[in-house]
Parts: sequence; structure tokens; C-alpha cells
Amino acid sequence: MNKFENILIKEVQAIITDRPVNTEGSVSWSSPSNIAIVKYWGKRPGQIPANASVSMTLSEAVSKTKIAYTYSQKRKALSVKFKFEGKEHKEFGKRIGKSLDGLIEIMPWLSYMELSITSQNTFPHSSGIASSASAMSALAVCLCEIEELLYGKRVTGDFYKKASFVARLGSGSASRSVYGNMAVWGMTACQPLSSDEYAIPLKEIHDDFLGMKDSILIIESGKKSISSSLGHDLMKSNPYARLRFEAAEENMQRLCGIIKSGDISSFIDILENEALSLHAMMMTSSPGYLLMKPNTLEAIERIRMFRMETGTEIGFTLDAGANVHVLYPEKSQDKVKSFIESELKPLCQNEMIIHDCMGSGPNRI
Ligand code: DP6
Repeated sequence: MNKFENILIKEVQAIITDRPVNTEGSVSWSSPSNIAIVKYWGKRPGQIPANASVSMTLSEAVSKTKIAYTYSQKRKALSVKFKFEGKEHKEFGKRIGKSLDGLIEIMPWLSYMELSITSQNTFPHSSGIASSASAMSALAVCLCEIEELLYGKRVTGDFYKKASFVARLGSGSASRSVYGNMAVWGMTACQPLSSDEYAIPLKEIHDDFLGMKDSILIIESGKKSISSSLGHDLMKSNPYARLRFEAAEENMQRLCGIIKSGDISSFIDILENEALSLHAMMMTSSPGYLLMKPNTLEAIERIRMFRMETGTEIGFTLDAGANVHVLYPEKSQDKVKSFIESELKPLCQNEMIIHDCMGSGPNRI
């Protein structure tokens, strides 16, 4: 068994002999989505990433989750009701149920719980923005707070480390959303405290990166044709996988230095290299698939042309989908905003753009 998981089990075993003090209550948190700079793509059993990743936490794209709980020793098993934006959401409810079942060892009190979970996103769910990072991180912080309320005391030395561990089991990228600014998940030589079991906040960030903007071009809304889970799985047989994991670690090492020194132009090199490498992995999987659309490529061309012609610090990245994240420092925003309005907006579905920026992580609401 892994190291941190052992610690969590010991910590919880030390408290579950106590009688719960608050057997009924509710908690509410908002938690953001994040955009990866170095991508997590490919995993090992136990939700362990094949390479380390680093992301920027967003501010506006958040999930708001409320959990009302009742604890009773008479209950035989965990019972969960889940509503998304006021309606029952079977698919996500099932995923949450599965995820909670996987937590029984580190949160044994869950077996005696009745949970009523309601969640909503600030971004339209038809926007094609991945919601698992915000949703699973919101759920994780809620559960960690319920644990403390239930026993009336701090259960673990580090609330957010535990929340990140719990979030990771729901969705890998969610592990990074529990911290503000930037976070690293996965063991990497450039971060001595990094771990495959949880994310850590990236500490040394140059002022020029703080408040970084992310304008998300909604090129295609709706559900992706191939899920991220399947995409991760296809990496197992991708002939270029080993080289990709090595390249990701090299990018991690370069990026940590770049973020510390404030070298935005090298940051953009890595940002774009990672986006295109991610999609190259999709194209070279078997079966190969393409998630970019003609307007994804057109947006990339226009961003690169604008950068070349004006010398503006602006770059793009992609998630596992057709949408384009346009990243630029706060100080360039006036120049970039008019370019986005005139050149990029017409490429978006229903001209939809979500203007977001670096955020401060989950908040109690
Ligand atoms: C392309 O975290 O959605 O966004 O762990 O299976 O839930 P699961 O996958 P997920 O994968 C995210 C992949 C990515 C890159 C990233 O966020 O690092």
C-alpha cells in the first residue's frame, strides 16, 4: 500500500473509536476547474499518473456543491442521492457512488451515512469544458469537512493534502484543483515534495505569472466523442508512450525554472508543445482519433500569426477536446482582448468565449 494512504488509514482509525458529535449537518464549497500546462495523459493502476503534471487553477469556472448528511450506526451501507442543477443526473451520480465506495477505507464512517448531494456549475455544461476536476474537487473538500464536523476535531495534519488525495481518486486532474494559482501532481525531480498520491501547490511563481488570463474559445460544445478515461487507457498500447512520459518530465523540469524566473516566452513554448503532444498521442493511439476541429486549427494559426506580427505574449493550450484555451499575462490583456473579439470570436460556436483567469482555489460557501 502507498505511503500517504497508510497515514490516512492510521489517522482515521485513531478517531473512529470516538462517538460522532455532529450526526447531522451540511457543508457547501465551491471549487474550480483547472487547465493543465504539462498534461497528465496515461495512468497506472490505482489512479497513479504516468508522468507529473502542472496546472493553473481557474477562477470563474467552478462547481458549487452542497452535501447534507445524516449519520446513523443503524445504517448498513452508504446511501447517496445526487442532483445536478436541480435534476437527477444518473451518469454522474453513478460515478460519484463508485468513487465514494472506493473511499471507505480512508473514510470508514461513510458506511453509516446518508448523503444528499446537490451540485451546479457556473459554466454552461454544454460548453464542453471538463467538469470532473471542479466537481470531484468540490466533493472532496466537502467530504473532508464533513469528517471534521462529524468528530468535532481535525482528523488529519493537512486538510488540503487529504482533499487532493480524495479528489484524485475521483478524477486525476481534480487533485490539482484544491490549491490556488498553480499545482503539481505526480512525482517529479523538480519538486522534492511532489507525490503520485496527491497534488502540492507550486510555491515559486514569478509575479508576471500571477493573475494569468485564460480565455476559453468554445469551438465545439457538447460531449466529447472519446472520453478521457478511454484516452488514458489507449496510452497503454501507444508506441510513443514511453517517449511522451520522458518528454513530459523534461518539460516539468524546464517549466519549474521558467515559472520561477518569469520567462513568459519559454512558458508559451512549453504550453503549446504540451497541447500538440497531447493531441499527437490521441492521433497515434490505436484506434487513432482526432478531437481538434477545423476552427481549432484556424484559431491556433491566428494566435501564432498575431504573436509573430505584434510580439504580444500570448499562447494556446488544448484540453482533451476541440476548445482552445488562450493564455496571456494580465499586462497584455487590453491588446489581446480586441484581437480575441475580432479574430477569434467568429470561430467559436455561437461566438461563445469564457473569460477566466488564475484563481485562488476552493472556497467555503
Ligand atoms: C487532458 O483527470 O479527466 O485534461 O483521471 O480518468 O478522470 P481521469 O482523467 P482526467 O484527465 C485529464 C486529462 C487532461 C490533462 C490534464 O488535465 O492534465
